[in-house]
Amino acid sequence: MNNRQVLLASRPQGAVTPENFRVVDAPMPAPGEGEVLVRNLWLSLDPYMRGRMNDVKSYAPSVAVGDVMVGQTVGEVVESRHPGFKKGDKVLTGTGWQLYGVARGKDLMLVDASRVPASYYLGILGMPGLTAWFGLFEIGKPQAGETVVVSAASGAVGSVVGQLAKNEGCRVVGIAGGRRKCDYVVEELGFDACVDYKAGKLHEDLRAACPKGIDVDFENVGGEILDTVLRSMNPFSRIVVCGLIAEYDAKEPYGYKMLRSVLVNRIRMQGMIVFDWKDRYGEALADLGARVAAGKLRYKESVVEGLDNAPAGFMALLTGGNFGKQLVKLG
Ligand SMILES: NC(=O)c1ccc[n+]([C@@H]2O[C@H](COP(=O)([O-])OP(=O)(O)OC[C@H]3O[C@@H](n4cnc5c(N)ncnc54)[C@H](OP(=O)(O)O)[C@@H]3O)[C@@H](O)[C@H]2O)c1
Repeated sequence: MNNRQVLLASRPQGAVTPENFRVVDAPMPAPGEGEVLVRNLWLSLDPYMRGRMNDVKSYAPSVAVGDVMVGQTVGEVVESRHPGFKKGDKVLTGTGWQLYGVARGKDLMLVDASRVPASYYLGILGMPGLTAWFGLFEIGKPQAGETVVVSAASGAVGSVVGQLAKNEGCRVVGIAGGRRKCDYVVEELGFDACVDYKAGKLHEDLRAACPKGIDVDFENVGGEILDTVLRSMNPFSRIVVCGLIAEYDAKEPYGYKMLRSVLVNRIRMQGMIVFDWKDRYGEALADLGARVAAGKLRYKESVVEGLDNAPAGFMALLTGGNFGKQLVKLG
């Protein structure tokens, strides 16, 4: 029996192309002492992976050309040489874009797939959900009655941010690409409004949707969207710089024009990386889990079938082709 892997074949120059990946068969890995062999069932595709394809200094190391693409998976233990895991256990792993992976027991987390689908641990009860929770509550600090704007609003992080803010008693306005996503954000997720930035009049539409200005911007996109949002920010408002996906494929950084708003409005603008709260993940997961169990958080997945289609799924994610948390079904 063979393993199958997706390798980084070359570094993208601008937009990611299929040639940047190579799908290969590989020998089945064998676990050593203290290790576990996992058959991956779900692979998470996330925007941060685009950064790992570049050879630049960042908060995490790049993937080397020829290496397996990084990523989180949920899988099933096939063979264990670690006392904490047994055959059949469901685990969260960092084994990347491959069908089978070996991990040290201390790098695995058991997941309880009896009450929610195992794939949730890659989304609403995983890294994206945690990002929404910590970014909103620790940096955005929304107060009842305030207006919260979130970009990439139908996505894995944005959808959770907006629902949490709504629960705090805020007016919540999403920004998303296209009518279909905007309708979902309002009708299914319960946001008060959603602006379609592809309609070409973002500033006017945002002004109309936020008559009292913006108190919290949860920024997932950057570029022209952030520059436009800056024009409507209120005095003493907060901007959570969570992601700048509009810039990930760009050869040059976007030239922001509205920085003056940060000064005159005394805006607190802070970048975030979710790992900084890793010691508190349990607290956030308990709260997110309770909300999911109570039916208070809606969640959507965008599923690509089969490892060989992971590159296509990833390219779709970077251009808005996904609708919900992007996953690859492997098993
Ligand atoms: N800081 C952290 O620790 C952390 C952790 C997780 C995620 N993030 C960031 O959070 C953001 C959302 O991540 P996610 O996993 O939830 O992804 P997602 O929102 O599920 O998917 C990405 C979405 O970004 C939007 N998008 C892509 N290219 C765009 C462009 N050029 N202009 C405007 N919108 C574009 C698309 O939505 P539309 O079709 O609506 O445009 C697409 O569906 C990303 O920027 C990611 O890097 C940060």
